[in-house]
Amino acid sequence: MKDILQTLEDRRGQARLGGGQKRIDAQHGRGKLTARERIDLLLDEGSFEEFDMFMTHRCTDFGMEENQPYGDGVVTGWGTINGRQVYVFSQDFTVLGGSVSATHAQKICKIMDMAVQNGAPIIGINDSGGARIQEGVDSLAGYGEVFQRNIMASGVVPQISVIMGPCAGGAVYSPAMTDFIFMVKDSSYMFVTGPDVVKTVTNEQVSAEELGGASTHTKKSSVADAAFENDVEALAEVRRLVDFLPLNNRQKPPKRPFFDAPDRVEPSLDTLVPDNPNTPYDMKELILKLADEGDFYEIQEDFAKNMITGFIRLEGRTVGVVANQPMVLAGVLDIDSARKAARFVRFCDCFDIPILTLVDVPGFLPGTSQEYNGVIKHGAKLLFAYGEATVPKVTVITRKAYGGAYVVMSSKHLRGDFNYAWPTAEVAVMGAKGATEIIHRADLGDPEKIAAHTKNYEDRFANPFVAAERGFIDEVIMPRSTRVRVSRAIASLRNKAHDMPWKKHDNIPL
Ligand code: HXC
Repeated sequence: MKDILQTLEDRRGQARLGGGQKRIDAQHGRGKLTARERIDLLLDEGSFEEFDMFMTHRCTDFGMEENQPYGDGVVTGWGTINGRQVYVFSQDFTVLGGSVSATHAQKICKIMDMAVQNGAPIIGINDSGGARIQEGVDSLAGYGEVFQRNIMASGVVPQISVIMGPCAGGAVYSPAMTDFIFMVKDSSYMFVTGPDVVKTVTNEQVSAEELGGASTHTKKSSVADAAFENDVEALAEVRRLVDFLPLNNRQKPPKRPFFDAPDRVEPSLDTLVPDNPNTPYDMKELILKLADEGDFYEIQEDFAKNMITGFIRLEGRTVGVVANQPMVLAGVLDIDSARKAARFVRFCDCFDIPILTLVDVPGFLPGTSQEYNGVIKHGAKLLFAYGEATVPKVTVITRKAYGGAYVVMSSKHLRGDFNYAWPTAEVAVMGAKGATEIIHRADLGDPEKIAAHTKNYEDRFANPFVAAERGFIDEVIMPRSTRVRVSRAIASLRNKAHDMPWKKHDNIPL
């Protein structure tokens, strides 16, 4: 019996060694952790239960029968993050470059199926040379099976991708279909075609880092949601994110103990909005002052900074925040900010996370670049996302809410549940100057008349009361009391139910 047990231990030891000490050292030499070290950091200590440790590929071409390492380049299983169940796969670059064989894909599919069946998030750690070249179409078929599961799991359980090495070719499309993508600076990249192919086809010379590194994808393409300094930091941030999320679409988001009175008033908010309507202020200050313990988890911090998206907690419960940022482009709505916010709103709606919208928006960005690139369709994404969302929706207009952007930003007309405004709010078709120049064009040569018209327009519309008179604003609130008002509003909506007309699915403008 002792020998039998020892055999198991020996085999386990062999499996745990992956591609061997030399390759592990090479992995460390690049500042990267191994697949197992990553899992250990991601999950609660001792909680990992592995599946399929001894699985091997079945390829016999190109001498592959001589090279059949245990695990076949991916470690899979489940464990807990702060006591809550998650499923995980972690590609092992030390084994055949983490390349995806039919077996490797089969292991990933198994845990994805279990995650959906048991209602727990899927976290994929990607570090792979892509399709196992020796396996040909069997490998592609494996990817296809993973893709289909990403699609079926979308909106059912949260899916998080962590890119910690190469992720190239069609392989990028599995992470692309997950809810969040995190990258590690300088050691991860994602692209559909690599620098060599780019050079051959377009004659552009570009490095892997420039083409698909963490900076590119968090600042330019918006493919990734955040970039971190190293593996350790990235995995710690995944743990923090999971704490905000429900485990599946049938659960409410988690409620955590909180140490911050819901009725905390913030007198400093009374002076947050400057006297001059064209002077910017930092909307993040408001978010931090509203949040339990000032804890804000920002999504896509480095992209379309005129829009802020992320999670806070109120009374210990997760709330998704969407906010215009007056510090950047005056908080204008444009293609990038609309796309960013629309995807976030849809994520919250999938997973029953209430949405708090903070509005200070001068309208949509004018210009040929916006129109040629389809601001009509992209802006419509956000409008559509808000209008279809059935989760509790609470809106606070702090200053400008002009034109179409007023309607888009979770207005009453898009089934906003609580629509508040600060006394500094201005709800109008446009700013006073622009409005005057259009409706009093005949007086444009007379500065005195124009000044009088502008003043008249300001007096009429540069306030929240016209909208409040019509019930489009439920109440004009004191800025200092925003936390308590919003907390109570969201608490009152906990049992909200909405009937939707039957449909197979909608046709959001893509
Ligand atoms: C089989 C692979 C492999 C692959 C790497 N290896 N990629 N084996 N299939 N796709 C093996 C290498 O042979 C090597 O084995 C070990 O992994 C480490 O690779 P190195 O090249 O030594 O590492 P490095 O120098 O760091 O380069 C990493 C790399 C490079 C840039 C990822 O390996 C590479 O270019 N690989 C091929 C990438 C690729 O073209 N993949 C197909 C993409 S198309 P030994 O035994 O020597 O250590 C795709 C389609 C998906 O993925 C479609 C889905 C629909």
